[in-house]
Amino acid sequence: MNVPLLATNYNEIPDMQPRLITLEGIDGAGKSTHLTTIRQVLTDAGLPWLETREPGGTPLAETLRSLVLSQPMTALSETLLMFAARHDHVERVICPALARGQWVLSDRFVDASYAYQGGGRGVAEKQLVSLEAWVVGSLQPDLTFWFDLDPDEARLRLNRGRGVGDRFEQEQRDFFERVRGGYQRRFQERPDRLCVIDAGQAEVEVSAQVKQALESRLIKWLR
Ligand code: TMP
Repeated sequence: MNVPLLATNYNEIPDMQPRLITLEGIDGAGKSTHLTTIRQVLTDAGLPWLETREPGGTPLAETLRSLVLSQPMTALSETLLMFAARHDHVERVICPALARGQWVLSDRFVDASYAYQGGGRGVAEKQLVSLEAWVVGSLQPDLTFWFDLDPDEARLRLNRGRGVGDRFEQEQRDFFERVRGGYQRRFQERPDRLCVIDAGQAEVEVSAQVKQALESRLIKWLR
């Protein structure tokens, strides 16, 4: 269903401040599928966007991604590599895009480090807070979709979808429970930018919920 909002012509507001929108969730929650919905809403609204991901988004960060997804390493190395990749990504992609007036859609961002390295691996929060301050400064997403899903259902989906998973996807249920808890704790303190999506619903319902949430944010940002 088209919401009347889209009749509002954003092209008449060319200087609408660009925003950073992120997607988060445990592996198998299906977040990446819904980038299509977000892209469509922004395109229909006449807003320029750029899609990217973490870890990744630059040649260096993609190289670091393949290392962290495949090589055995300590939790600290993993954390530092995630933040090294993020530094390159923020410097070369996210900040320049926002400065050019493009909206940025990132499949994961800093919240994932709190969830996976903090919750999942047990890295101390104060270390993550220092790295966050050092690497991203005050840059925060304007809107974060958290695709929340029970780890058992996520596992079923992962098993259905692909062959042997990467180093994270091969983790056990208790790891993903801790990651989910890490997201919960992180978002409890950041309700303003959070949109929780029940990722256990049918794909079409999830997509409708994402569309509706984004459109109501656009209305709010326009005021
Ligand atoms: P993806 O499969 O969603 O592209 O993400 C790759 C993996 O990287 C996923 O299992 C989550 C993990 N990850 C972290 O552990 N910490 C981070 O900061 C980020 C961005 C991703």
